[in-house]
Amino acid sequence: MLETVSQTRFRSEPKAEVKNKKINLVKARGSFVYDDAGREYIDCTAQAWSNNLGANDPRVVEAAIAQIHDIMHARPNFDTPILRKLTAKLGEIAPGRQRQVGYCLHGSLGSEMAMKLAFKNRPQARNIITLQDGYHGRSLATLGASWPHPNNPFLPIQPRVTRVPHPDPYRPRLGMDPEAESALCLELLEDTIRKGVDGPVAAVMMEPIQGNGGHIEFPRSFYKGVREICDRQGVLLIFDEVQTGFGRLGTMWASQYYDVVPDITVFGKGIGGGFPLAGILADEGLAWFEEGEEALTFGQFPPSLAAALATIEAIEADGLCEKAAGHGVYATERLKEMQTRRKLIGDVRCPGLFVAIELVRDRITKEPARWESQEVYRRGVEKGVLFGESRYLGLGNLIKIKPPLDISRELLERSLDVLDEVLGDIEESRP
Ligand SMILES: Cc1ncc(COP(=O)(O)O)c(C=O)c1O
Repeated sequence: MLETVSQTRFRSEPKAEVKNKKINLVKARGSFVYDDAGREYIDCTAQAWSNNLGANDPRVVEAAIAQIHDIMHARPNFDTPILRKLTAKLGEIAPGRQRQVGYCLHGSLGSEMAMKLAFKNRPQARNIITLQDGYHGRSLATLGASWPHPNNPFLPIQPRVTRVPHPDPYRPRLGMDPEAESALCLELLEDTIRKGVDGPVAAVMMEPIQGNGGHIEFPRSFYKGVREICDRQGVLLIFDEVQTGFGRLGTMWASQYYDVVPDITVFGKGIGGGFPLAGILADEGLAWFEEGEEALTFGQFPPSLAAALATIEAIEADGLCEKAAGHGVYATERLKEMQTRRKLIGDVRCPGLFVAIELVRDRITKEPARWESQEVYRRGVEKGVLFGESRYLGLGNLIKIKPPLDISRELLERSLDVLDEVLGDIEESRP
C-alpha cells in the first residue's frame, strides 16, 4: 500500500531507532515550552508565529472553557452571541472600512475565501496575481498561489494564478537598487494585469512582508504602487496578514504600518491565542457571500471565537503592539551590533517582532550558510532556545526570532545572547 507523508509522520513510533526524532512538547506557558524530559525552552517560534499572546494565557483558556459550557458547535447559518461580539470587535479594529467578516479555521482556507470573494465581486474574472516567493497556504488552491514548495506533488492541478516578480532589497533579482527594482516590478505587475494573462484579473494577493518565502519586506513605494495599480485597473487588493496581523509589526495590522488599505485582509494564526481561527475582513462596499456560497461545517467554532475575543482584548489591554515595536527596535539594534562581529550575519530584517537574520558564508557572494543555520537551530535547542528555521526557497539560511509579543526583555536578551554565543561557536568550528 502507498504511504502518504502524514501517515508516515503520525504512525506510532517503531521499536527500532526513530529517525528525525522531534521534541515532544508536553506543556507551554507564556514564552516557554517544555518537553517530556522536563526541559524548558524559550520559544522564539511562538509555534509557527501564532502565539502573539504568550502560550496558554489564562484569559484565553477561561474564555474558551466558559464558551464550551454554553455552546460548543453551531452551524454557520446560525448566529451566536460570541459570533456577534467578535465580529463587532473586528469591525472596530479593522483597517479602513473592512466591516464584513468571514471565519474559518485555517489561514489557507482564509486565503481561498479571499480569492472566492474577489471572484464574486469581479464575476468575469478568473485570474489571481500573487508575488513570487509569496506564501498563502497548503491547500490545493493556495499551493498554486505560493512559491513552488519542494514538497508539492500536486503541481499539475492548480487554479489560474500568475506569480509576478517583487523587489527583494537583499537579493535583488535584477541587480538594481531597491527603488529602481520596485518601479520595474510595478511596471511588470501592471503589464501582466493588462496583457500577461487570459482575461480579466480579480485580485492581486500579497503578504505585506513575505514570511515563509524569506522575510522579505518591500520598499514603501511598492505598497503604494500596488494599491494605485489595483485602483487604476479595477482589480481588488488582498493583503494576506496571516503572519503580520495582530500586533507582530508593532501595529495591529501591517496595512497600518505601511499606510495602505487593501480591499480584503486575510487573518489567521495570532488571532486565536493558540486556538485555530482564520478568516477575512472585507470592505463594506464589496458584495458578500450568499447563504451556501461559503459554508464550512466548523466555519463558526464558538470556543475559537471566544478565545479570539479574549486574545484581542488582551493584546489591547497589555499594549502588545507598543511592546512588539519596542522589542523590535531593541532586537534589531543588538543584531546589527552582532553583525559587526559575526561575519555569518549577512542581513538583519525587521520590523517589530517580525525579526530574522540571513546567514551567509561570504557577504559579497551571499552564498547561503545552510549547514550553519541548521547548527544554530540545533545548538539553540541544546541551550534551551528554539529559533525558527526557514527553507527559504531552497536557500535554507534564515533564522527567525519571533517569540510571543509579551516576552519579557530579559528573555529576549537571553535568546539573543544564546544566538551570539552559538554563532561564535559555529564560526570557529565551521567545516
Ligand atoms: C502568510 C500566510 N498565509 C497563509 C498561511 C496558511 O495558514 P494555515 O497554515 O493556518 O493554513 C500561512 C501559514 O504559514 C501564512 O504564513
